[in-house]
Amino acid sequence: MSPQDDPTAVLHELLEGLARFGREGTGVTRLAYSDAWCEAQRWLAERARGLGLAATTDAAGNLFFHDPAVVPGAGAPPVLLVGSHLDTVVSGGRYDGACGVVAGLLAAAALRGHGALSAAGFVTCEEEGSRFPSPFMGARSLLGQVEAGELDAVRDGNGVSWRAALDAVRTRGCAALLAPGPRPFPPLFRPARMLELHIEQGPVLEAEGLALGIVTHIAGFRRLRVRLTGEARHAGATPMRLRRDALAAAAEIALAVEAHARALGEPAVATAGFARAEPGLYNVIAGACELGLEVRHVEPGRPAAMAAEVEQLARGVAERRGVALEIVEVSGQDPTTFAAPLVAAAESLAKERGLRFRTMASGAGHDAMVFAHAGVPALVVFVPSRGGISHAPGEYTLPEQLAPGLAFAIELARRVSEEPA
Ligand code: GLV
Ligand code: MN
Ligand code: MN
Repeated sequence: MSPQDDPTAVLHELLEGLARFGREGTGVTRLAYSDAWCEAQRWLAERARGLGLAATTDAAGNLFFHDPAVVPGAGAPPVLLVGSHLDTVVSGGRYDGACGVVAGLLAAAALRGHGALSAAGFVTCEEEGSRFPSPFMGARSLLGQVEAGELDAVRDGNGVSWRAALDAVRTRGCAALLAPGPRPFPPLFRPARMLELHIEQGPVLEAEGLALGIVTHIAGFRRLRVRLTGEARHAGATPMRLRRDALAAAAEIALAVEAHARALGEPAVATAGFARAEPGLYNVIAGACELGLEVRHVEPGRPAAMAAEVEQLARGVAERRGVALEIVEVSGQDPTTFAAPLVAAAESLAKERGLRFRTMASGAGHDAMVFAHAGVPALVVFVPSRGGISHAPGEYTLPEQLAPGLAFAIELARRVSEEPA
């Protein structure tokens, strides 16, 4: 079946197909550069070729679907990039990233040979930061922002470096050779504009009975790794008054951070996403605990300010409990405002099509943030998420909600590609 015959059927077939790679019940775990990721990438490239597109992988493992007449590399003409990411969180859903990847592939196929700007689909290799503690590795490398040192410095939870992970997938055709010198990822394409179709990942569109969300802003974030060091002692023989319990300190910090975000009010959010106590036994008071904290806010300056406030709260708790504290900011991104002309183009198309829509901010991060911060006019469009569930196996969007979103994204891409760079 070709997308011209029935793009919705092809969308579903491709989403079903992708969900096989890394399937876990109704959900998916497809970490960057894993076997499941590599197989999904190769399968998708084959499907793109079947639709008459070229499929090209860059040195970071980002994948592009493009008009075979467009030769990637330094001399490539500016393009409209449409896509999203193929990696998932651990025990994630089938739609986060995949929905936008498939829309990018189908937009590139539908628009091949049209427009002043050639439309290319893209698939970033690592958006979630679920394997490597460095978010948006794919988008940053695609834009030529990554320096060689990062390849050895960035390591996953098992100590595998980004460079070693790439070496392993390169032998399977899932990444191209690194460029020598300080910039290992010379961009294959020069994006003039960028579009991303995504599920909302929250409950607003469903609650308001809307078909589309046009994203005007994305919340920025800061991630803090906190290490608390107390004293590992016998859990039976040590009286309560003589303890320096690192896990109890982490718990108090987690609650203080939650209370702080509640007190700030919406749209501030703060999360303690994990606590890893050591040695992690029933009968030993935790001598150390690693705690992962994240804050997000949509207003400029607020993520950095919240991170400083959270640090102060954590230091206060640690001091009172006699526990040592180290705190490191592991990653962050400032809030994003999307290009007004793209927002306006999306609003007028939605009105023309009689689609019920709203403009909204996104609390979730997206590759489009990295493009926007690099000066590439970018836009994210949401379709509803059932029950607002995301980053969980229950993630779902009804076929009749995906179909208008896909058609909208392809038509928006058509219009956006008509204007030269
Ligand atoms: C990505 O999904 C994020 O918002 O963390
Ligand atoms: Mn996503
Ligand atoms: Mn996600």
